[in-house]
Amino acid sequence: MTGPRVLVAYGSRNGSTAEIAQAIAGRLRARGLATDLLTADQVGDVGHYDAVLVGSCVYMLRWHADVLAFLHAHERALATRDVWLFQSGPLDDLPETRDRPLAGPVQQVADRIGIREHVIFGGRLCDGAAGALESLFSLGGLAGDHREWPRIDAWADAVAEQILARRVAQVLVPA
Ligand SMILES: Cc1cc2nc3c(=O)[nH]c(=O)nc-3n(C[C@H](O)[C@H](O)[C@H](O)COP(=O)(O)O)c2cc1C
Repeated sequence: MTGPRVLVAYGSRNGSTAEIAQAIAGRLRARGLATDLLTADQVGDVGHYDAVLVGSCVYMLRWHADVLAFLHAHERALATRDVWLFQSGPLDDLPETRDRPLAGPVQQVADRIGIREHVIFGGRLCDGAAGALESLFSLGGLAGDHREWPRIDAWADAVAEQILARRVAQVLVPA
């Protein structure tokens, strides 16, 4: 039996979502899952993946444009695969912000795909990050690293378990 193939695709402006995506891919690989890690604009075909995890930074309530374009471009193929979404942002990691709804355009395409789950992780804003808005946020005291690595690792492990369990079920009861 061949193992499931997994794609982790992401969009990141200042690198913190990229690091989350790397950590998630590392956890999946540690569970024996063949995992590709690509920026959303690098993905050509999702057809040979069994499961896809898609991550994005959020700026002014919007997901990364490359990630939204990826979701739209591959919507039909994604609808026949197991898909999880994760986002990096807000600049805290509090129970109330973890339960925020997805941005409207992301929710709409997520509904059409029929995703398994979406999760919100705290993000990071570096002191001295480039950009006028980044400077304003920084001056407002929002700079800092709010990524909770144990929570990210635990989520990735739980997703890996679900992917592996699905494969076992497919072998026992072929479609
Ligand atoms: C100007 C600015 C706007 C932001 N807007 C949002 C937002 O609307 N919602 C949110 O959850 N996080 C927001 N954030 C937090 C970012 O999503 C967070 O810093 C994220 O980790 C950045 O990811 P990246 O380093 O991969 O670009 C904002 C940050 C900045 C600097």
